[in-house]
Amino acid sequence: MISSHRVRLASGLVLFVYVALHLTNHALMNVSLAAAEAYAFAMFAVVGLPPVRTLLYLSLAAHFGLSLWAVYRRRDLATLSRGEIVQLVAGLAVVPILVGHVVPVRFGGLLFGMLPTHTSVAVATSQIDATGGLLLVAGLLLVWLHGCAGVHYWLRLKPFYPHWQPFLLAAAAALGALALAGYLAGSREAAALFADPAWRAGFAGRHRLPGPEGFAMIDRIQDGVLALWALSIAAVFGARRVRAWHAHRGGRALVAYPGDATVAVALGTTLLEASRQGRIAHASVCGGRGRCSTCRVRVERGAENLSPPTEDELAVLARVAAPPGVRLACQARAIGDVAIVPLLPASIGAAALVQRRERESAGAEKTIAVMFADLRGFTTLSESKLPFDVVFLLNRYFAEMGAAIEAAGGRIDKFVGDGIVALFGVESGAAQGTREALAGARAMIDRLAALNAALAHDLGAPLRIGIGIHTGPAIVGEMGYSQARQFTAIGDTVNTASRLEALTKKYAADLLVSSDAAIASGLDFSGFPEETTDIRGRQGVLAVRIVKDATKLA
Ligand code: FES
Repeated sequence: MISSHRVRLASGLVLFVYVALHLTNHALMNVSLAAAEAYAFAMFAVVGLPPVRTLLYLSLAAHFGLSLWAVYRRRDLATLSRGEIVQLVAGLAVVPILVGHVVPVRFGGLLFGMLPTHTSVAVATSQIDATGGLLLVAGLLLVWLHGCAGVHYWLRLKPFYPHWQPFLLAAAAALGALALAGYLAGSREAAALFADPAWRAGFAGRHRLPGPEGFAMIDRIQDGVLALWALSIAAVFGARRVRAWHAHRGGRALVAYPGDATVAVALGTTLLEASRQGRIAHASVCGGRGRCSTCRVRVERGAENLSPPTEDELAVLARVAAPPGVRLACQARAIGDVAIVPLLPASIGAAALVQRRERESAGAEKTIAVMFADLRGFTTLSESKLPFDVVFLLNRYFAEMGAAIEAAGGRIDKFVGDGIVALFGVESGAAQGTREALAGARAMIDRLAALNAALAHDLGAPLRIGIGIHTGPAIVGEMGYSQARQFTAIGDTVNTASRLEALTKKYAADLLVSSDAAIASGLDFSGFPEETTDIRGRQGVLAVRIVKDATKLA
């Protein structure tokens, strides 16, 4: 199913194109009213086609309706950013400001065969009703501002945008200014025409203006549109009040953060809104639209107290290879107590995110630490379990291991069967990355022990894992196709880490660390025996440190 965000974006883009064409039309009045009318004739020959007109009306209805829906869904409007407030107010104010232009032009033509042109509109709004002229100019600028803000929020996560932003901004400002200047030029030309008594006498007839009764009917339609607009907004805010009242009666949910911070929120509040209400800094580059993934959190406790993820949320989480137990804070709603850990620095901005994505998609050779971890004997265990139990067990295991890896500073590359591949030091460098990988391995063993204790009744024997860590050069970058693209690493370092993990069985060890990794970490490994071993597909032998009990790691 297509999400409401996408429909709002698509409908907004349709309207944006229409407004841009309209402003271009106004800009042409700088040449002459006749030039603007020739352009309008060609433009409305296309826009007037039934499929195009239908698309336009549907977009208008969908965009307005979904914007109100977004206002309803947002629990706390006080947490809107300044840019969001400008966009929202500009969007809502457009209706009362432009109704005096749109209704006479559209319904005057439909009901009375009126022939509105640039000349008639310029005369009407500059010579007959100057207030209407001011409203027309203000309305067009507001629509343009609203549309440009929407396009900016959409594009700022695209890699090309930082380079193009100044040009696009200049183009948007130039079009707005030219349209404004065009309107003034058109008004001057209209004033000259209107000063001619003969021209003025034929004005109403040439444009088939309706009589006083016709205009009274147009006024009534205008009032009806305004009433509908006011009613829709009142209904949304009324529904918000009713929901708040219900939520108040229904109780509160506690959202706990690292460091003992806790925020009490109304049931149904998103985790991102909870952070904003509690003034807890929380990354949200796309403004809560579920697109950037920067708000993602690890759910430490109470995952069952969150609304289930939608397909769109799952797709975004899959794109960043998020392990089980990770949710988008802007999409997950608290219906009970939860404990969460935001995963990205709160200070990350659109530019930093785009740079990071650019770097990752471009690919590079880096010296990193690669970790392979695998459950021992899980195939045998899974044969004695029901499929449901196997999935439950694996997801618990992945959630614990993923949490240990991410807390240590690593990133999950992939889950393969019951195995996990993780990368460390992509940003922080080989030495720091290797220390993080070792800390992650130690934490994984600790968490596995806790999991074994918690599931002792369900498991015949405790789960055991083998971990291999190697540090060396690898090619890192985004690889794959379409939705299946993800950040990963390839090369001999990855293969070696995988072989080390396989060798943990031979040495009956929790962990095998290549001597390259041990040296890169700068830590003292003299307490762990060193051996040399052949690595399949690799020339020469590799020295490895055998860590039988990973809890002995410093
Ligand atoms: S804020 Fe961008 S996905 Fe949540």
